[in-house]
Amino acid sequence: MSNPSLLILAGDGIGPEVMSQVQRVIGWFGDNRGLNFDVSEDLVGGAAYDKHGVPLHDDTMAKAQEVDAVLLGAVGGPKYDDLDFSVKPERGLLRLRKEMDLFANLRPAQCFDALSDFSSLKTELVAGLDIMIVRELTSGVYFGEPRGIFEEGNERVGINTQRYTESEIERGARAAFELAMKRDKRLCSMEKANVMESGILWRQVVTEVSKDYPEVELSHMYADNGAMQLVRAPKQFDVIYTDNLFGDILSDCAAMLTGSLGMLPSASLGAPMDNGRPKALYEPVHGSAPDIAGQGKANPCACVLSFAMALRYSFAEGGEADRLEAAVEKVLADGVRTGDLMQADGGTPVSTSEMGDALLAALDASL
Ligand code: IPM
Ligand code: MG
Repeated sequence: MSNPSLLILAGDGIGPEVMSQVQRVIGWFGDNRGLNFDVSEDLVGGAAYDKHGVPLHDDTMAKAQEVDAVLLGAVGGPKYDDLDFSVKPERGLLRLRKEMDLFANLRPAQCFDALSDFSSLKTELVAGLDIMIVRELTSGVYFGEPRGIFEEGNERVGINTQRYTESEIERGARAAFELAMKRDKRLCSMEKANVMESGILWRQVVTEVSKDYPEVELSHMYADNGAMQLVRAPKQFDVIYTDNLFGDILSDCAAMLTGSLGMLPSASLGAPMDNGRPKALYEPVHGSAPDIAGQGKANPCACVLSFAMALRYSFAEGGEADRLEAAVEKVLADGVRTGDLMQADGGTPVSTSEMGDALLAALDASL
């Protein structure tokens, strides 16, 4: 049988730096655990624009459709701020999500013990925090039509459309309920049913789907209250299911509860392919961080943990994913810190590749 295939799209800014540490981790699993991947690399975002004049070449899109999983670094940077909207780096990422139909975006917000005093919230509010946000990723206001900037009378009007079909709400809800079944069996659905019809439908459909998951305790919350509750008492949540735009905002909020965006991975999953694996793209939640790009300062942990999610969700290697996550925890517990994880009085931060060295050493020690 041939090896499972991975397409690496390192992208822009710190993407290539953090991804090179992931490459070392992938190599470690091949050398030590017999897990070999056929890895290919290509361009996305500004890097693709520089070469091809588009943020995602059609050939790259086709490759992404064929591989078992895509690993993405980050896209964007100030250099591309003035580009036409249609070729901005972010459009490359949105195209991947849309054409691969990656409807379920899993964004865990987990507080590592060694970092619990990094949060802007009191330590006791976040210690042990473990939330899974499931964000619908292929519809809603990100993609709804009509959209555009139009002339109306003697002024311009900007239009975007929040649109959700029943089946779009339902398939994401099923993904969220399935995850809840494997966790603490609590699901909170967030929308704005008080002001939006799409929110009313959202609540109805999620309630209907819940009949198939009687063990899961379902609650509903208006998304604004959800934002408030996330900073008031975040540990009340287990799984949160919400739409594309609310999910974008709420997941940044939840991410910061943990103290560092540099620690958080994500998985974007679609329907199963012929081989039973879901279409999948894994990426860190952090962006391209142009302010520190190219300096060897970036924290590779979020990208490494995204590969752990790939092991778990694409390759049914939950035990190996646990091993990798434990290695990250160990390195943090040992006090190894990149710059983003330094307290004001902290010592000298390690570089991106030194963090990689520490991770590989922790993996060696796990054998
Ligand atoms: C995210 C990002 C993207 C989004 C951008 C880069 C298009 O903020 O993944 O959360 O808005 O979805
Ligand atoms: Mg975002």
